[in-house]
Amino acid sequence: MDKLFFKKTYHIIVQRVSKQRLHRRPEPESSIDDQEIIKGNLNDGLNGSLAVVYGIISTILDRYDFDNPRNALDIGTGTGVLLAKLAQLFPETSFTGIDISQAMLEIAQETTKKYKNIYLMLCNLHNLKATFDGKTFDLITWSLGLHHLKNNEEASKTISMLTDLLSPRGRLFIFDIERPKTLSGARFLADTFNNKYGYPYYQDSLNSYLAAFSYQEMEEIIKAASVKTYLHKRPFFINIFQYVIIPGARIKPKAQRHRPEFHYQGNQLFDYKLLKLAFGL
Ligand SMILES: C[S@@+](CC[C@H](N)C(=O)[O-])C[C@H]1O[C@@H](n2cnc3c(N)ncnc32)[C@H](O)[C@@H]1O
Repeated sequence: MDKLFFKKTYHIIVQRVSKQRLHRRPEPESSIDDQEIIKGNLNDGLNGSLAVVYGIISTILDRYDFDNPRNALDIGTGTGVLLAKLAQLFPETSFTGIDISQAMLEIAQETTKKYKNIYLMLCNLHNLKATFDGKTFDLITWSLGLHHLKNNEEASKTISMLTDLLSPRGRLFIFDIERPKTLSGARFLADTFNNKYGYPYYQDSLNSYLAAFSYQEMEEIIKAASVKTYLHKRPFFINIFQYVIIPGARIKPKAQRHRPEFHYQGNQLFDYKLLKLAFGL
């Protein structure tokens, strides 16, 4: 057992038992335009811990019955690395990836270029209703983006608006960080998982941990969005991520789709297996 293993175990226990509640600090910026941050995001998504998160998201999506979506909208698509994986998971689905950052979309253009079922668009998510005017989607995915919103009220309103963009059989999937209970917990995450790709990306990651909503806040946000049914889950022994599916969905006993390939080794493989176990996948 190496030192990192004990540090991770210590962190998991502290986050489970701590009575502290770190206040939320909204992101200083919503759009991500800084080239150094984008570069860090891309490298983390291709080779780092973010690549493990994309594996977990793919595995979660693979386990729910989304009923072969004809079209899908990916919000705050960023570098497009996740979008490319989603396009592999749902090869028959036509994807539209939107982002507010032109610089991000230029990277996404490259990372998704071999997928014929992906279309990218510069768009602020708050203008989605006007932009798509009456169009609906069978699947809307929103990964690591909710924490960019200012407060609970804006988050509820946005979720409510997104459910209006769903087709009658459509589903909204939101995946995000669960805010650590302590500042040292947030620092531990950024130090351990996001420190390889330069200081601007490290600082941006730390900001994301601090801006994320707690599990309880997320419950309040969904309730205020007045959705009929939902499923809200987090790993059962690790407080680090959470996801929501609206309306609630049934987990399939067996995965059926061809999952995108991920080649994890060492710590990446360990983290993927741990998260998979903790999410009950
Ligand atoms: C942390 S990144 C997540 C990217 C990707 N979804 C992932 O999982 O890796 C958040 C993305 O949301 C975008 N974003 C922030 N506010 C937005 C808004 N109002 N409308 C559209 N995109 C937004 C940012 O520019 C950034 O690319």
